[in-house]
This record gives sequence, C-alpha cells and structure tokens, in this order.
Amino acid sequence: MSLSEIEAQLSIVTQQATEDISAASGLDELDRVRVKYLGKKGDLSKVLGGMGKLSAEDRPKVGAIANQAKAVLQSHIEQRKNNLQTEQIQSQLASETIDVTMPGVYQPQGRIHPINSIIDQITDIFVGLGYTVAQSQEIESDYYNFEALNFLPDHPARDMQDTLYLPGGQLMRTHTSNTQIRYMENHEPPMRVLASGRCYRRDTVDATHAAVFHQIEFFAVDKNITFTDLRGTVQLFLEALFGDIEVRFRPSYFPFTEPSAEVDVRWQGQWLEVMGCGMIDPNVLKAVGCDPEVYSGFAAGLGVERLAMVQSKIDDIRRLYSSDLRFLNQF
Ligand code: DAH
Repeated sequence: MSLSEIEAQLSIVTQQATEDISAASGLDELDRVRVKYLGKKGDLSKVLGGMGKLSAEDRPKVGAIANQAKAVLQSHIEQRKNNLQTEQIQSQLASETIDVTMPGVYQPQGRIHPINSIIDQITDIFVGLGYTVAQSQEIESDYYNFEALNFLPDHPARDMQDTLYLPGGQLMRTHTSNTQIRYMENHEPPMRVLASGRCYRRDTVDATHAAVFHQIEFFAVDKNITFTDLRGTVQLFLEALFGDIEVRFRPSYFPFTEPSAEVDVRWQGQWLEVMGCGMIDPNVLKAVGCDPEVYSGFAAGLGVERLAMVQSKIDDIRRLYSSDLRFLNQF
C-alpha cells in the first residue's frame, strides 16, 4: 500500500468512527465502538498494519497522522461519554421527580377513647405512688362479689333489680371490689393495688346510668394504715387529676368498709360525687385470712364514666358508647 492509500483509508476509518461515536445511543454501545476502532485488533490498527511496506521516510508521516486520528477519536469518545452520562442523569431526575404540590394520601388516625384515656391517666398517678396494677374477672360468684365483702344475705344490693345473674348461679360483677378479695387471697401485706374494669348492673339506661360501666378500685393494706392515709391519698390523687380542686368527705355506708365515706369535688360551682371509700372492714380481712389485729387497710372505688364526663364536659353517658365518630373525633 502506498502512503496516499493508507492516508485515504485512515481518513475513511476516522470518518466512520466519528459517525458511529455520535450515533452510539448508550455507554455500552459507545464502548463497543471504541473497541471496534481503537482496540488492539481494531480498524485503526488494521490500517496501520500495512505500514510495514512503506519507506523509512513515509513511516513517521503515517505514524503522525494515525496518532492524531487516534487523539481526535479519543476526545470524541470522551465528549460523547459525558453527553450520554448527563442525558442519563437528566432522564433519571425527570422520572424520579416528586411533585410536592400533589395532594397527599389521607391516613385516617385513631384516637384514644375518653374512657381509656382517663383510666390511663389515673393508672399513671397510682403507679407513680407505687401501686401495682391488678385484674380480676367480670363473671363472678356471689362469694367474691358479695359474701366475702361482708354483704349480709338479705342486703338489698343483691336484689335481682341490681345484679345480672347468669344461669348456674354466677353473676356479672356489680363492682370492681371483687378484686380486693381475689388479690388479698393470693398476696401478703404490705400491698397497694389498683384495678380497673367493666361492671354490670340492671339499671335503667339514661343520661347518667348505663348497664355496663367502668370502675377503678384502689386499696392498701399494711400495719398501721389509718384514715389519714386514705384522706391524703384521695386528696393527692384528685389534685393530680383535676389540678387545684376543693375536696370533701361525707360519711356514708358500705358493707365492706368501716368507717365509710363518699368523696365530692367542687366542680363548676357544684359538689359532685366521685368515689366511695373507707377503712377495710375487719370481716373482709378475716375472709381472706388476714389478721385485722395486725393489719389494717383502706379501699376506694370510683366511677370512671362520671370522671370522664366531668373531665371532657360530656353531658350524656350514652355518647361514650355511641361509636359516633363526629363525637369521638373531638378527643
Ligand atoms: N363498690 C362500691 C360501688 O360499686 C364502690 C366502693 C365504695 C368501693 C367504697 C370501695 C369502697 O372500695 O371502699 O358502689
């Protein structure tokens, strides 16, 4: 091959390579083009293979042209590579763009029911005072609901009007005081215990009465527990729940406490009864095998719905069980 032939071929190869480089549609294809023309066995090398037959004078000339062609192609490739990379990033950015002005997906949010909320608050207060949280059962025997709590056999609270009896002699507990017996039977003093749960009564349902309602029971048994401890605990608890509030104790009667009291708080200008309480009756301690000559204790029971209604300004107890989202979403 003559010098001019080689030059012509170099120019053809360079031209083709330049076209292929600009036509490469991706980085992989571009690399194949590079190998095809500039690789060891590539088209450029093939053309230069014919150089051996040239004169010593012409050889450096072809070498110089070839080197230049190589350099030009390399810079074309580099440029194309940059363009392709930029295009790739741009298209990725375009496809992954997030339009922050699009409307969001609505996530319905649950809320804590006012009953659960107040039970949680009260539990927190008593746990802070070192109380243990206990549970007992809703289906109960006469013994745990009444007899062990010192209800005489003819006590009016056992009347069919109040208590829901089940076939077979069981009943639905009418208060959480059954927890006192069940807990004390299995634990030794000292004890400080809190229990919350559902209670059942055959009540006519109206704005302030429900057949199913919640109570919280708390009691403490130890040596030397006095009425003063009860008063201090009740006062502290009510202030923790309601803030600075006026509290009054009224003498009352419960079969399972002696002496007994009811507690009122001054709420929006009126006295409002919030719990029953008293010193645990010696007969109750005897029923669980606890010596009343050695130990004494106090107990109290509160109506949860009443407190929730006061705290959340709810006028009708039935709203608490209506499952009406317009009502529940307020809390
Ligand atoms: N069990 C009573 C009721 O349901 C409330 C009660 C009063 C509980 C006095 C007590 C207590 O523990 O000492 O009405």
